[in-house]
Amino acid sequence: MNKQPIGIFDSGVGGTSIWKEIHRLLPNENSIYLADSKNAPYGPKGKETITNLSIKNTELLLEKGCKIIVVACNTATTNAIDFLRNTYKIPFIGIEPAIKPAALQTKTNAIGILATHGTLSSELFSKTSDKFANNITVIEQVGNGIVNLIESGKLFSNEMKALLKTYLEPMIQANIDYLVLGCSHYPYLMPILLDLLPKHVKIIDSGEAVARQTKAILKQYNLLNTETSNPNIEFFTNGNPDVIKQLLNSNYSINYLDF
Ligand code: DGL
Repeated sequence: MNKQPIGIFDSGVGGTSIWKEIHRLLPNENSIYLADSKNAPYGPKGKETITNLSIKNTELLLEKGCKIIVVACNTATTNAIDFLRNTYKIPFIGIEPAIKPAALQTKTNAIGILATHGTLSSELFSKTSDKFANNITVIEQVGNGIVNLIESGKLFSNEMKALLKTYLEPMIQANIDYLVLGCSHYPYLMPILLDLLPKHVKIIDSGEAVARQTKAILKQYNLLNTETSNPNIEFFTNGNPDVIKQLLNSNYSINYLDF
C-alpha cells in the first residue's frame, strides 16, 4: 500500500500549487493529479453539483489505486469533504482558507480574504470565521473570473490585473495587513498581488500546511513511502494540457483524459 500514489484533485490547474508543496515535502511519493478543467470553475456551482464532481474525481483516483486523497480545492473541501470522508474508507486531506493565522496575527484588526463564492458561502467557512475572526474586520471578496482567466492561460494578462485591482481596492481602503488566498489557483497570482498591494500586507495561503498535514496523516496510517527514489508522477486533465504545462514549468508529461 505504501507505494501506491497520493491522489490529488482540483477543479482545474490551480491545485498544482498544492501538488508542488506536497512534492517538495514528500519527494519519494508517487502521485497522480487530476485537473477537472472541463468543469471549472466550481466556485459558482451549488453544493450538490460540487459534491457530485468531487465523487467523480475521487472514484477515478480510487480506481487508479490511490492510498490517500488530497482535495486541493477550497471549494470542494468546504462543500464536499464531509461527504467524502463519510463515504470512502481512505483518508482525505482538505484545504481551507488560512483565516486563523491571519486573524491571530493582524495588527490593524482588518484582514482580506479572496475566495470563490462556493467557499465563502459554505457552512464550514462561516464556522471557522465565527470562531477565529469575530472581533476583527474581515473583508470578503469573491474572485469572480479569476479561475476562468487562469484556466484559459491568461494568468499574466491586463484583464487579470484590472480585475485584481478592483477586488483589492476595498481591502486596501480598510487597511488590511493580511490577505488570505482562499483558492488553490490564487498562489499563481503572487507576482501581481505583490505589485498591487502596499508593502506591509502579508499574503498567506494554505499550501504548505496541507503538505505538512498530508505527511502527518501518511505517517499516522503507516503509509509513507520510504523506498522510491524515482517517483512516478502523473498529471491528467480533461482540459488543455498546455495550461498545466506552463504552470509546472518542467517536463512532466501531462495526459489528456476525458473524465
Ligand atoms: N482551486 C479551486 C479552489 O480552491 C477553484 C474553484 C473554482 O473552480 O472556482 O477553490
